[in-house]
Amino acid sequence: MDSRFASYSFLFYVLLVSQCTHTNSARRITENINKEVYDHLRIVNKHDDPSTLMDPSLNVFFTLNDLRIGNSIAIYFSTKHPSLYPHLLPREESDSIPFSLSQLPNILEFFSFPKHSPQAKAIEYTLAQCELEALKGETKFCATSLESMLDSTRGVFRLDAKLEVLTTKYLSSHAIPLQNYTVLEEPNATLAPKMVACHNMPYPYAVYYCHVQESDHKVFEILVGGENGERVRAIGVCHMDTSQWDPNHVAFRVLKTWPGRSSVCHFFPANNLIWVASPMII
Ligand SMILES: *[C@@H]1O[C@H](CO)[C@@H](O)[C@H](O)[C@H]1NC(C)=O
Ligand SMILES: *[C@@H]1O[C@H](CO)[C@@H](O)[C@H](O)[C@H]1NC(C)=O
Repeated sequence: MDSRFASYSFLFYVLLVSQCTHTNSARRITENINKEVYDHLRIVNKHDDPSTLMDPSLNVFFTLNDLRIGNSIAIYFSTKHPSLYPHLLPREESDSIPFSLSQLPNILEFFSFPKHSPQAKAIEYTLAQCELEALKGETKFCATSLESMLDSTRGVFRLDAKLEVLTTKYLSSHAIPLQNYTVLEEPNATLAPKMVACHNMPYPYAVYYCHVQESDHKVFEILVGGENGERVRAIGVCHMDTSQWDPNHVAFRVLKTWPGRSSVCHFFPANNLIWVASPMII
């Protein structure tokens, strides 16, 4: 299979597999609260205080100029093994479990999590994120199954659009979260005037927080190699026009630039799903 794009059939495969394993996975959660999602949302959507600049997971930003063969970029990719993420549930099953902040006590009871446990906090956090009202001009949704993700994503694109999903993939074992990677090949750019980025949220089963981006941006597929020989085919997005961005956005501090001066790009963690329509390779 062409590993560049995870195809539809791959996702359905995931769904099939998850149907066999969901019963256990639904109850076995995540001791390990999904910190990187939280970080990603915080980093990409919000502004932060300078103290967080020490946070290694901030090493996801780059600029268009960095995408030259042989160039070195320090990148943080979580080393959490993909099998540790909760599985997708089939829609019938996820629909049978309440999913709203007002139902929090019932949800905690259903999963047998004590009220003040870290899992309870994670669940509350995710539900709150999902119920946050969208900012002006923003479209967002949470998906609790693959079917609902596809339905909502389809609603964003033209009805006849052919959807493709892009994910960051480790092409070798992956053991070092932060290191310098070298750009190994000319990156492939996809023109994606619209993109739906779905982030895996901390929850007992797979929940994705998806937001639609409709701005001047390019999606890239970038083959990078670490100093220890690890190779990653990473998905990154470049926002070309940053002139309207908040000057306090953490990306500017990391990249030592300012609004309108340069593009701001960032890599997506491996457990994110990036939907684009009929991409044209340029
Ligand atoms: C990446 O390389 C630079 C320059 O050689 C070095 O200063 C930096 O510490 C390296 N970063 C990591 C995470 O290894
Ligand atoms: C770019 O696309 C070509 C043709 O499909 C492929 O062979 C190559 O590996 C891709 N490069 C990257 C960095 O993904």
